[in-house]
Amino acid sequence: MPFKKDFLWGGAVAANQIEGAWNEDGKGISIADVVTSGNVHNPREITSELEPNKYYPMHQASDFYHHYKEDIELLSEMHFKCFRLSIAWTRIFPNGDDKEPNYKGLEFYKKVFKECKKYGIEPVVTLSHFEMPLNLVKKYGGWCNRKVIDFYIHFAETCFSFYKGLVKYWMTFNEINNQTDYNSELSMLADSGILIKGLSEKERENKMYQAAHYELVASAKAVQIGHGVDSNIKIGCMINMTPQYPFSCKPEDIFQAQKAMQRRYWFADVQVFGKYPNHIETYLKQNNFRKDITEEDKLSLLDGQVDYIGLSYYNSNTIKAKSNNLNFKFVGSELNVENPYLKKSEWGWPIDSLGFRYSLNWLEDHYHKPLFVVENGIGMHDSVTKNKAIHDNYRIEYLREHILAMRDAVEKDGIDIMGYTPWGCIDLVSMGTGQMSKRYGFVYVDSDDKGEGSFNRLKKDSFYWYKDVIDSNGEKI
Ligand code: BG6
Repeated sequence: MPFKKDFLWGGAVAANQIEGAWNEDGKGISIADVVTSGNVHNPREITSELEPNKYYPMHQASDFYHHYKEDIELLSEMHFKCFRLSIAWTRIFPNGDDKEPNYKGLEFYKKVFKECKKYGIEPVVTLSHFEMPLNLVKKYGGWCNRKVIDFYIHFAETCFSFYKGLVKYWMTFNEINNQTDYNSELSMLADSGILIKGLSEKERENKMYQAAHYELVASAKAVQIGHGVDSNIKIGCMINMTPQYPFSCKPEDIFQAQKAMQRRYWFADVQVFGKYPNHIETYLKQNNFRKDITEEDKLSLLDGQVDYIGLSYYNSNTIKAKSNNLNFKFVGSELNVENPYLKKSEWGWPIDSLGFRYSLNWLEDHYHKPLFVVENGIGMHDSVTKNKAIHDNYRIEYLREHILAMRDAVEKDGIDIMGYTPWGCIDLVSMGTGQMSKRYGFVYVDSDDKGEGSFNRLKKDSFYWYKDVIDSNGEKI
């Protein structure tokens, strides 16, 4: 059997995309609460205040806050071994800089974790998944401010202590490396609480490196604190893995793709080895970025190495050098080109299951750490038949190909993988577009892009298929 006996099969969600109840039981406003809905052609808008005529999809999301019992029962029917979710920082500390936690918020997750445990489902918890308190952005400038390290640590310590014995697997920040796309308003807000409008490209990049440094110090301190609270828990980093392929064997393409990999994955080097790699140190010095780093920070990074690497994998990316100028920027989409060998999803994301196996091998080569695949999947439109069935063969096909690729990575390449939690196991609001109609789940949620619907849950064909995958430990696929 390729997968270990205790392989953690499950699914993943994030608080801001599934819970709704954005202002209930003392919850404060998070950055996710001020982002409107969009679609593949119209980007989501970030508003500085809540505007009465705008629609904010995260306010209702899938209403997991009121449906969690029913939802976890459905996951248990698929025989989930684990369930990845995040804690909304603003449920625990509504303003982020509060001294005392909001006990109603703490109690909510205790109930959720206990409900999971009732069915033998292990919670896998991300502390920060794109939802920092808005107050920290407005009052302190988000992660550009060193003070935010202390607020995050207070939040992390509160959670580790309060949920001691209930949660074994933690992650500090979701997709911490997405901010390397520093020209994306949404990535910069989601990862670092930075509003980039009006900033030059140089200023954006400068802010990104400083904010990322504070986040990495916060992550390392959280790892130390967590291990101090309970030496049995495992704390991972979480990176978005999008391998950067060279478009051709032209040396310039290969070199630019290598540089793109370095600029995207140095975060994992810091979190795994406790220090910055030389190529990034050199780049930072040359550009006078990340000016504030102390000797104490360096020690914190060394002492806060993670136990495992959590990763998301959706697709690969292809890089073509534009000229022979090797200093050309590859941020955003400037060097991205279509890969002629790959099909795309309805939302234009390339589909590349071998890229998944490639990624797992790449991570093993670089880090020699256990890997936990905490996101993978395909966002698609689903339609419900008269008999309330959802025939989502496209989803089964994508997941089957990717699980087979992961199986090869384990069986043929010897990669140590702890578990697999496909994204959005219960339909939720898309982060990128704010649409409900971009669905990933095994469980359908009856709500549309305007938040209208009964919020009833339905089982898709993939629900029954995934149950068999879990029951056979990845054999019946
Ligand atoms: C990951 C995020 O980047 O991709 C999730 O961790 C997100 O929060 C997922 O939902 C899929 O992206 P999207 O834009 O389809 O929601």
